[in-house]
Amino acid sequence: MFVPCHQKLVSAFLLLYCLHLSAFDFLWPCPQKCICRQDTLEVNCSSKHLTVVPEGLHISARRLNLSGNRLKTLIRRQFYGLTQLEELDLSGNIISMIEVEAFQGLKYLRILKIKNNRLKIIPVGVFSGLSSLLSLDISKNEILVFLDYTFQEMVNLRELNAGENDLVFISQRAFVGLQSLQELNVDHSNLTSIPTDAFSQLQSLSKLRLRRLNINVLPNYAFRRLHQLRTLQILQWPSLETLNSNSLVNLNITSLVISNCNLSAIPYASLRHLTHLIYLDLSYNPITSIESNKLGELLRLQEFHLVGGKLLRIEPGAFRCLAHFKLLNVSSNRLTTLEESAFHAVGNLQILRLDRNPLTCDCRLLWVMRRRFRLNFDGRQPTCSAHERGRRREFRDFSEAEFSKVFICRQAGILERKLQDVMVDEGTNVQFECKVDGYPQPSITWLSPQQTPFSSVGRIRVHANGTLEVRYAQVQDTGTYLCIASNAAGNDNISASLHVRSSSRNYTPPNFFDESLVETSLPPSTNSSAQLSSPFPFDAKTIVIATTMGFLSFLSSVVICFVFMFLWSQSKGQIKHTATIDFVPRSSMGGGGEGGDTGRFTMKLI
Ligand SMILES: *[C@@H]1O[C@H](CO)[C@@H](O)[C@H](O)[C@H]1NC(C)=O
Ligand SMILES: *[C@@H]1O[C@H](CO)[C@@H](O)[C@H](O)[C@H]1NC(C)=O
Ligand SMILES: *[C@@H]1O[C@H](CO)[C@@H](O)[C@H](O)[C@H]1NC(C)=O
Ligand SMILES: *[C@@H]1O[C@H](CO)[C@@H](O)[C@H](O)[C@H]1NC(C)=O
Ligand SMILES: *[C@@H]1O[C@H](CO)[C@@H](O)[C@H](O)[C@H]1NC(C)=O
Ligand SMILES: *[C@@H]1O[C@H](CO)[C@@H](O)[C@H](O)[C@H]1NC(C)=O
Ligand SMILES: *[C@@H]1O[C@H](CO)[C@@H](O)[C@H](O)[C@H]1NC(C)=O
Repeated sequence: MFVPCHQKLVSAFLLLYCLHLSAFDFLWPCPQKCICRQDTLEVNCSSKHLTVVPEGLHISARRLNLSGNRLKTLIRRQFYGLTQLEELDLSGNIISMIEVEAFQGLKYLRILKIKNNRLKIIPVGVFSGLSSLLSLDISKNEILVFLDYTFQEMVNLRELNAGENDLVFISQRAFVGLQSLQELNVDHSNLTSIPTDAFSQLQSLSKLRLRRLNINVLPNYAFRRLHQLRTLQILQWPSLETLNSNSLVNLNITSLVISNCNLSAIPYASLRHLTHLIYLDLSYNPITSIESNKLGELLRLQEFHLVGGKLLRIEPGAFRCLAHFKLLNVSSNRLTTLEESAFHAVGNLQILRLDRNPLTCDCRLLWVMRRRFRLNFDGRQPTCSAHERGRRREFRDFSEAEFSKVFICRQAGILERKLQDVMVDEGTNVQFECKVDGYPQPSITWLSPQQTPFSSVGRIRVHANGTLEVRYAQVQDTGTYLCIASNAAGNDNISASLHVRSSSRNYTPPNFFDESLVETSLPPSTNSSAQLSSPFPFDAKTIVIATTMGFLSFLSSVVICFVFMFLWSQSKGQIKHTATIDFVPRSSMGGGGEGGDTGRFTMKLI
């Protein structure tokens, strides 16, 4: 087209026309099918069914969009000459092969997108020459491995998206050279372990997202030398159940997300050292409680999200010491209440998501009610579940006059306050009652004369109905026991006295093979349990040693041996009066068994 136009035989009109065209083409030749914009130096060849990279691209083009075509391969020096190119978009093609040095010459390229293609492997050297690249997207391919030195020359790369590949392995030196990389995304790969060594090359990394990995334990020292890392996101690891306690050691992060995993408890031990943490999100894990005083070392924590978990309880003091805490998002759990005492200073709380929980509206939630216009519920009002009239009501529906009648508690009180003072003989069973009343239902604690609480198991135990039972009373059990009933509105207590008389004459030791009594040595909550062991005929150590030795079987085999020898010597007519029996001691006997120090018995024959 260029040549015929310069022939002098054509008419003036045509000449003018062609001159016009050629002048335009000379400045900004635009490949057929593409849209070129000279003002922005942009060539847009998106979705044009191209099977090869078009020719005739102008060397001053800054941006080239080849997305959504049918490109299959990129050859060596494919874009050579486009020295001014800054952005290249190759996403949505069917590229399965990129030759080494394909991008050679693109020394100003800053953004390269090869997302959504069919790459299986990236030969070392493909990215050579891309020393100005800032952002590389190779997500949604079928890449299986990253080989050593794949990204070597990209010293300025800030952002690498390698998600949605079939990655099974990242070689130890794959990320060598990525000294400026700040953000790495390895979503949805088939890795079965954290490529700790490869990551440790990334000394500028500040954000790491690892989504959809099939790993069930986060091992100790999983992240090393990531000194600049501030944000770690572990998302959708459906089998992740445990974080080893040193798994996050060496990290100094401000934001941590571990969501949509299978954690059944908050990994307190692994979080403890993260004193700069500001944002913590453990949403969509089957976590049932936030325990008291366990997050206290996260001094700078401001936001805690645990949405869609299985939270039944946030214990008082759960957020104690967290003076900067201002956002709690516990939407969609199974909480019946949230007490003010969970927080360090409830006045600092700004945003509270408590919706989609089966809340019981009583005095424990009065603090929320009182602050309902000051607190930001993020557009989701908390709701009283099935209140007295059987309907759910949003907090904002309560009038001032009403909520002072609804959000109430009845202080815990003890019913039937009768004097309980008993004197019994040793070995007797005794019960002390403690019937309580209050709203919400008070909890009952029984304290021993030494002020230690009893549990529901043990020789001395507390029944569900509040009754304290002392079985086989011992002289040492003598003293004053205290029952404490408590709920959000207050406490009440009552004491009971027990005197146990020693009666050694008619005291029959209990049957120690009674199962219910054997378990009494289990609970560590009381010291009284240790006193039981004294009436045992043997001490536990003897029994253990005897059992290990196979004491009985050993004895019986010696006896059989002896009888056999006796008969044998009889039949020979040579009557011996002693017999020496050699035996090999069992290894498990160690040095402790009786007679075990010699390998031989001498016995007298009859
Ligand atoms: C490039 O062209 C495609 C379709 O031809 C269009 O959808 C897209 O918006 C264009 N991009 C730019 C940056 O102009
Ligand atoms: C990766 O995992 C997906 C499913 O999780 C599976 O379909 C695919 O075949 C795996 N790829 C490799 C290479 O194992
Ligand atoms: C999650 O953990 C529970 C037990 O804690 C287990 O039964 C379940 O199979 C786990 N889920 C997955 C996807 O591993
Ligand atoms: C941890 O990070 C914070 C900022 O996020 C920084 O001020 C602090 O010095 C860092 N601590 C260490 C030990 O690197
Ligand atoms: C609370 O969590 C939900 C679910 O993750 C989210 O949509 C919402 O934005 C969060 N609210 C706040 C205030 O962060
Ligand atoms: C409480 O329960 C225990 C064991 O179930 C029972 O022995 C006792 O009689 C009960 N006491 C009262 C007052 O109901
Ligand atoms: C029970 O054990 C604790 C801790 O070992 C001890 O402090 C306490 O004095 C003991 N009480 C009695 C009655 O021995």
